[in-house]
Amino acid sequence: MNTNDIFNSEFSRQYDANNSRFSAINDNLHFLVALLLRDLPADARILCVGVGTGNEIIYHAVKNHGWHFTGVDPSPDMLEVCASKLEQAEIKDRCTLIEGYLDNIPDNVAYDAVLCLLVTHFIQKSDRGGIYCEIKKRLKTRGRLIVAEIAGDTTTGNFDEQLSGWAALQAISSPNIPMLEDLKTLLRKRLLLLPPEKTEELILNAGFSPPHHFFQSLLIHAWIANT
Ligand SMILES: C[S@@+](CC[C@H](N)C(=O)[O-])C[C@H]1O[C@@H](n2cnc3c(N)ncnc32)[C@H](O)[C@@H]1O
Repeated sequence: MNTNDIFNSEFSRQYDANNSRFSAINDNLHFLVALLLRDLPADARILCVGVGTGNEIIYHAVKNHGWHFTGVDPSPDMLEVCASKLEQAEIKDRCTLIEGYLDNIPDNVAYDAVLCLLVTHFIQKSDRGGIYCEIKKRLKTRGRLIVAEIAGDTTTGNFDEQLSGWAALQAISSPNIPMLEDLKTLLRKRLLLLPPEKTEELILNAGFSPPHHFFQSLLIHAWIANT
């Protein structure tokens, strides 16, 4: 999937405003990630895969003045918004942004942690395991991977129940709650959901420690694993 069609100029400029309806969920996720990364070195290097508009960089950079960040993303439009936010937050000198994918990142740095937040559900299911293998190569020994993605087993009997909460979330700041069937079509068209257990298996098969499922809010799940 060429996600630059989704993360185009208009969408990128609206991304943070549109996502404000998720802010209670996102704030909780970032808060927990910060707890899980609290013992990284004062000069840690963090790689953010699918950095988007840079919210994860800003959250952690303002709390950790010695951390350096590399953000990679295929969308020039998302990166443009990100760059201006980093400048405004006065943290640009600790950040490197790269347009592209994991294999466009120079391999001369080993990272203490990789954050891959709300990205993997856009990656083809057949390529999903490979991403975790690529990420592992970028990490130091005992480095940490944090993944958050939209996940769910669309074949289980209670998936509709899970979707009804998701529909209510989509409806915040919009006049109508989407019909479940419309939401399913949209999910199928835009997102490539795997059951959470499958993601855990892929992370483990990439050579990480058994992932710890530390977060779930509706269909958004997150894990931490070590090299
Ligand atoms: C929903 S946004 C998430 C942005 C940010 N991580 C956040 O949590 O707000 C997904 C981002 O992943 C990027 N993306 C899509 N496919 C990617 C891939 N294969 N590798 C890296 N980034 C990708 C998109 O361009 C987009 O900026």
